[in-house]
Amino acid sequence: NTPIRVALLGAGTVGSATARLIVEQQEELEARIGRPLQLVGVATLNPDSAKKYPWIDPSIITTDTAALCKRADIVIELIGGLEPARTFVLTAIESGASVVTANKALIAKHGPEIFAAAKQHGVDIYFEAAVGGAIPIIRPLRESLAGDRIDNIMGIVNGTTNYILDEMTTKGLDFDTALRDAQAKGYAEADPSGDVEGYDAANKAAIMATLAFHTNISIDDVSVEGITSITADDIAAATAEHKVIKLLAVCDRSEAGVSARVYPALIPDTHPLASVRGSFNAVFVKAQAADDLMFYGRGAGGDPTASAVVGDVVTEARHIAQGSIGPDIPMYAQLPMAPVEAS
Ligand code: HSE
Repeated sequence: NTPIRVALLGAGTVGSATARLIVEQQEELEARIGRPLQLVGVATLNPDSAKKYPWIDPSIITTDTAALCKRADIVIELIGGLEPARTFVLTAIESGASVVTANKALIAKHGPEIFAAAKQHGVDIYFEAAVGGAIPIIRPLRESLAGDRIDNIMGIVNGTTNYILDEMTTKGLDFDTALRDAQAKGYAEADPSGDVEGYDAANKAAIMATLAFHTNISIDDVSVEGITSITADDIAAATAEHKVIKLLAVCDRSEAGVSARVYPALIPDTHPLASVRGSFNAVFVKAQAADDLMFYGRGAGGDPTASAVVGDVVTEARHIAQGSIGPDIPMYAQLPMAPVEAS
C-alpha cells in the first residue's frame, strides 16, 4: 500500500497546524483515504523555527523548496504571497504533483495560469482555505452550486479586520492595540497591511466572483477600501445609531455585468452580519434556484485554516488513490465589469 507523498511548503501559523493534523491523525486519515499519507518534507527558510514543533520530524525539514516540489504527489503551498509561491506551485504542477494552497493572493492574481497548468498536466488544484478559513465556501461555489445561477455574494471574509472593528466597538480598544492582538492570535497576514487596507478581502472577493460567475475576475478588477481611516469617533457614531461598521466583500451579477468590491459598511446592529464577532467570517450567497444560503465559521487562525487545508489534502489523496481527477474551473462567461457605485 504505497504511501501518498505530501510536501509542505511553509511552517508558519497555518503550516505548523497543518503538519500536526496530518501527523497526529495519520491512522484515521489512512483509513479515510485507503492509502497512507506520508509527510516527506517541510520546506522553510527558517529551519530552526520549524524544529520547535515536536510533531515535525527534524530530518524532513529542508530549505530546498524546488527539489521538494519534485518528489511529492501533493504539494501544500503555505508560503503566501505571489513569488516565489507561484514559481513553486508551477514547478509542482509541471512535476506531476497536485497542489493544495491557502494562498488567496496567488489564486486571485494568477488563478487562470495555475488552473490551465494543472489541467494541462492532469493534476488537481484545491484552495478551500484561501477564502473564509475553516468555512466550506470554495467547494460549494465550485461544485455544489454548479447547477444553479449565482447572482450575489456578500460577506465578512477577513478575520483580522472583523476582530479589530469588534474590539474597537465592544472594548473601546484603539486600532493599533487591536491589530497587535489580532497578530498575536495568528489571524493577520505576515504583513498585516493587506488585511487592514482591504486587499486580503479583495483577493477573496475575486476568487468567489470567478467561481460564482464563471468568468475571470482578478484582484485588479476589485474596487477596494479598507478600514485604516476608521476612527474611534466613527465607531461611537455608529453605536449611537444602533449600527456597526463591518468590512464587507460584495460580488454582484446584474444586467450591467459583474462587479466585486470591498468597503467598510454601516449595518444595523440587528442585521445577521452584525452578530459575526471576532475572527469569525460569514458569507451569504443568493442563487436563483437555491435562494438564500449562509456560510459561517472561523475565518482565520492556524487550526481552523489547517482544517480546510487538510480537507483538501484528503480529497486529493482520495482522487490519487482512485486514479480520478477533480473538477476543473471553466471560465467561459463573457461578462462585462459593471460600474461600481460610490458607497
Ligand atoms: N489574514 C486573514 C484574515 C487570514 O484575517 O482573515 C485568513 O485568510
